[in-house]
Amino acid sequence: MSRLIVVSNRVAPTQEGRPAAGGLAIGVLDALKETGGVWFGWSGEIIGESQAPEIEKQGKVTYATVGLTRRDYDQYYRGFSNATLWPTFHYRTDLSRYDRQEYAGYLRVNTTLAKQLKAMLEPDDIIWVHDYHLLPFARALRELGVSNPIGFFLHIPFPVPEMLRTVPPHEELVKAMCSYDVLGFQTQADRQSFVDYIERGGFGTASDDGMIHAFGRVLKVGAYPIGIYPDAIASAAQQFADRKQVNTLRDAMRGRKLIMSVDRLDYSKGLVERFQAFERLLLASPNWHGRVSLVQIAPPTRSDVQTYQRIRQTLEGEAGRINGRFAQLDWTPIQYLNRKYERNLLMALFRLSQVGYVTPLRDGMNLVAKEYVASQDPEDPGVLVLSQFAGAAEQLPGALVVNPFDLTQMAEALERALSMPLPDRKARHADMMAQLRSGDLSTWRDAFLVDLRRVTTAASVTRKA
Ligand code: ADP
Ligand code: G6P
Repeated sequence: MSRLIVVSNRVAPTQEGRPAAGGLAIGVLDALKETGGVWFGWSGEIIGESQAPEIEKQGKVTYATVGLTRRDYDQYYRGFSNATLWPTFHYRTDLSRYDRQEYAGYLRVNTTLAKQLKAMLEPDDIIWVHDYHLLPFARALRELGVSNPIGFFLHIPFPVPEMLRTVPPHEELVKAMCSYDVLGFQTQADRQSFVDYIERGGFGTASDDGMIHAFGRVLKVGAYPIGIYPDAIASAAQQFADRKQVNTLRDAMRGRKLIMSVDRLDYSKGLVERFQAFERLLLASPNWHGRVSLVQIAPPTRSDVQTYQRIRQTLEGEAGRINGRFAQLDWTPIQYLNRKYERNLLMALFRLSQVGYVTPLRDGMNLVAKEYVASQDPEDPGVLVLSQFAGAAEQLPGALVVNPFDLTQMAEALERALSMPLPDRKARHADMMAQLRSGDLSTWRDAFLVDLRRVTTAASVTRKA
């Protein structure tokens, strides 16, 4: 069997039990733990000058991590990745900026990382690259003479062509993406945006078998929605039900309903609108005063990017204002916590709540939505209120799907979720669990890797013929 080499900017913390850093790290770690392989990427450290990777083996996974210099970090990570690509791909061109030097830094770091990886590669390795930091990574490897199969999965949305074209080097980026053998997106809509860019721009054509012919290459372009392991999460939620923090919250919520939200503190997550819709519920239905609380857990992320500093301030202001307006001596409407928790503990908190309130303005998939459903007690499940702009909405029809820009509709959905009769809750939960089981994390990984192997085997047979 060939070795699997996973490449991503963020490599999951290697210590078990430590909170992970977002959907990519969670998904890749769980997927890689079973197959085994190498995980190559940034160590999270800023260093003086580039060095060879540090290698650490844990179980079946070998971690190979490298530091970034301050200039690399500023231009590649903080700059082009998180101040240009992230906002644009989340449809926030108003928050996006473009700087030619940052883009040059982005390309330079992709090449440096490719060189560092190349030194470790063996001829039979299969390479699976993840996320927007590494769009040109395959091109960099190909330029170094690497001919191994290379696939790419984008964890975040892929924007419609009009939006993508606001990034000045859009054509160069898409052309570079065509150096991969397989391109994977979270949803059919994301895949279609990519195909539209290629076809409308006259760069190539798509065929019915999912292949694209563009820029002189042939590659597979597919939708591979990332999943979770629902039954493992269900049992973790049950096992952690007796933890001290869970009991504390349970006691505090006696006689009250609990709405739970958990996100990185990111402007794409729709946190301000979410708080304001909750405020509308309290305005419209005074009978909920003192009887429902929203717990929002939101650890800060990318805090040295200016747009993230602003969202943090805005949110603190909104939480304070709404609490000031409605709080009573023994009731705080919004409990807003800026910290990470152990993942299993979060699952137990989800299980305690009556409503999962997941309303991003735009999101690749949103694993929290899936985790919320999986954590519930099947005999008394909570209700998921979910944004139509999360990739997960394509797969969780049992949720109350809302438009996060419509505050009144969100307030109505909260009211409906809080009052939903048990038989309806159970039916919705069973329906969503079935979906989660049929498209779990191994389905995602295996479907992608099967395509990567198939496409590259077919290509080498064609080359030899
Ligand atoms: P994103 O990848 O944009 O952060 P996802 O919802 O897809 O969004 O994934 C977030 C992952 O990080 C989930 O697995 C979630 O459980 C975890 N997570 C989010 N917030 C926290 C937190 N406060 N503490 C620990 N884990 C968290
Ligand atoms: C999202 C992105 C990941 C990223 C994570 C955390 O899940 O898709 O690529 O790793 O957020 O963000 P960070 O910038 O801390 O890596």
